[in-house]
Amino acid sequence: MTSIIKNGVLVTETHAQHGDLMLVDGKIAAAGDLRHEQADRVYDAEGCYVMPGGIDPHVHLSLPVGGGLLSADDFENGTRAALAGGTTSVIDFVTPEHGQDLVTALRARRAEADHHVLCDYGLHMSVVEWRDSIPEEMARSAELGAPSFKTYLAYKKAIGLDDQAFVRVLDAAARGAYLVTAHCEHGDIIEHLQRQFVEEGKTSVRWHPRSRPAPVEEEAVTRAIALAGTLGAHLYIVHLSTMGGLEAAAAARAAGSPVYVETCPHYLLLDDQCYEGDFDSTARYTMSPPLRGSEHLHALWEGLTSGVVDVVATDHCPFCTKGQKERGRDDFTKIPNGVSGIEERMKLLWAFGVAEGRITPQQFVGLTSARAARIFGMAPHKGSLAIGADADVVVWDPVRMTRLGAKSQVSRCDESIWEGYEIPGAARFVFSRGTLAAEEGRVCIPAGYGRYLERRLLSGRRRG
Ligand code: URP
Ligand code: ZN
Repeated sequence: MTSIIKNGVLVTETHAQHGDLMLVDGKIAAAGDLRHEQADRVYDAEGCYVMPGGIDPHVHLSLPVGGGLLSADDFENGTRAALAGGTTSVIDFVTPEHGQDLVTALRARRAEADHHVLCDYGLHMSVVEWRDSIPEEMARSAELGAPSFKTYLAYKKAIGLDDQAFVRVLDAAARGAYLVTAHCEHGDIIEHLQRQFVEEGKTSVRWHPRSRPAPVEEEAVTRAIALAGTLGAHLYIVHLSTMGGLEAAAAARAAGSPVYVETCPHYLLLDDQCYEGDFDSTARYTMSPPLRGSEHLHALWEGLTSGVVDVVATDHCPFCTKGQKERGRDDFTKIPNGVSGIEERMKLLWAFGVAEGRITPQQFVGLTSARAARIFGMAPHKGSLAIGADADVVVWDPVRMTRLGAKSQVSRCDESIWEGYEIPGAARFVFSRGTLAAEEGRVCIPAGYGRYLERRLLSGRRRG
């Protein structure tokens, strides 16, 4: 099957040039000024940018959070939402039970996802405790294509690690040349503040951000960087939300440390005023870390422009207000945390980043696909328009307006933190391995089309 995308502006992380792109049998076959007589299909990209399909390396589909609750989107619906928004690969998580072997948990998670996903997907391994067999389990996970290991410095009573376990995971990762990803919040102080607030009757949503203020993240980021740097481990900080955390990462980077930074659209665009109001209008914004004051938003945008932020991911993990978030109506600590973005990420970053002149289209490609592909071992197949790469391509119409909200979204969540946003920029066509997967937001490939991504890290030097 040969397709030609005609007359677009081909954008990579480094270049933007008018031209055509040829897709043959799932791969990118040629770029430039192409004759289209032999193509089976020709797609018109006049007025559009032609870019690598988005990669969202931080999503939680069907995430169990206790009490029988699962995040609102499962693998089928979540990956459909991804494609609708121009994202062609996602990375979800394996969260083993305590005592469960990592590889057993990886196989179980694949059984949940394979045959259901619409787009390609990979899995990070969460390490939720230490035991002597963990280095061997990490090695076997890496062989099975999951060489990135998630650690939580919060949630100590459930899946979080204390410093002793965290240090051991970092050491094992450094020895195996794996990547450690870290949720950086100081778990003990959060638990202390939550307990104190609840005892004082401070149970409404406005106490959620107060129980995990900026220094709680900044301390954990600084500690994680220091420990990883001491042991020589490559560290990826997920969902960074604070100015101080960003400064610590920037300093480590300037000193040559392999530290990578991810943030999310909600930390760039929404602030802590969202927590002021009644439960039904504020519960939707409960995520960890929480939204911050405007000085942090400005710093994060500067981090995008300067290149200190490598990746804009989503941490997509929405819960419906009805039946899910409302479990915490009388106690904010019981609200399942997480928000949506898998479908909106590309649109939001285009509208508020490129269209508003904060970042270039090339930076957009770096932040939404190319750097994630390199950091997480998906390059050179993903995140690229190079000849021979997988033909995961988005044809992006920069002026098409769409209105975001619960009624129009693919996500099964009953509300949206992006309700009412009317913004320019949307995918006209989305191709996954050369197959048309979505057109004008309508997904046209079946569940099961997506494949598991066996990721392989480049060892040694910085990958970003
Ligand atoms: O609030 C969040 N971020 N929920 C998803 C789980 C996590 O901590 O990443
Ligand atoms: Zn997450």
